Amino acid sequence: MRILIVGATGPTGQEVVRQALDYGHNVKVLARNPDKLNVPQPSPNLEVIHGDVFKLEDVKGALTGCDAILSALGGKPGLFTACDVYSKSYDVILKAMKELSVNRFITVTSWGTQDDPELPYLWRWVFKPSLLRNVVADMVVMEDKLLKEEGINWTVVKPPRLMDHPLTGVAPLTMEGQLVRGIPGKTHIGRADLAKFMLDCLTTPQWDRKLVAICSAACAAVADGKDAGDMASVGNSVDGDKMGDK
Ligand SMILES: NC(=O)c1ccc[n+]([C@@H]2O[C@H](COP(=O)([O-])OP(=O)(O)OC[C@H]3O[C@@H](n4cnc5c(N)ncnc54)[C@H](OP(=O)(O)O)[C@@H]3O)[C@@H](O)[C@H]2O)c1
Repeated sequence: MRILIVGATGPTGQEVVRQALDYGHNVKVLARNPDKLNVPQPSPNLEVIHGDVFKLEDVKGALTGCDAILSALGGKPGLFTACDVYSKSYDVILKAMKELSVNRFITVTSWGTQDDPELPYLWRWVFKPSLLRNVVADMVVMEDKLLKEEGINWTVVKPPRLMDHPLTGVAPLTMEGQLVRGIPGKTHIGRADLAKFMLDCLTTPQWDRKLVAICSAACAAVADGKDAGDMASVGNSVDGDKMGDK
């Protein structure tokens, strides 16, 4: 598949690029700081384009010939730091997708952009109302637009705290909505597992037009007193919600 990746210079984006190349995809990257891309170059399957994700002509130029676009863009935390990277890039990406008849968009926001009493305490009462307030508000703007958008096939992947863990090979727990329920302890997922899940969404219709919360299987394993490796044998089922490991 030929895919465009934006946000590719961030820690998750770099993983998406690396794994997409390993998978055999033909990858284009659109980046404002292409020198930050830390993947083996040159690669015959990688094209890096210097450009601005807020400029329609730049996005259209990069997206031409692609089957899908994946975004790992992220806003900066800060009490008084404005954030429009999700909503502003989405407006441009949607326009470019429609003009070029590209139909698949996979992006990342976070657990609990909408409130839920089961959300982790620190997220709900400390980070979300303070340092991440503006980031989350802009994630919500993009999610609301996507929920109303019928012209493209989209998926919003919603992770909890991100860790720089290597790929586990164990499918994450998944649940449609704001969080994966039923995990009493600390929640996290490795960026490599998040990247793999985003790429897996290209090859299954399971999460088409959905917000999907994901979480490391290790979180449930710890809560159950099991080893994380045991989770491979039970798949990634929480309340019957499954996505096979590909
Ligand atoms: N950190 C966590 O624990 C956590 C938890 C849940 C969800 N998330 C979300 O998961 C996603 C990935 O997180 P991450 O930590 O891997 O990456 P990140 O540091 O949040 O994202 C950085 C990427 O966004 C790009 N970017 C930011 N503002 C931009 C702008 N105005 N124009 C163009 N590009 C811009 C950066 O480009 P440059 O390299 O050019 O700056 C970089 O490629 C983010 O949406 C994040 O909010 C994070």
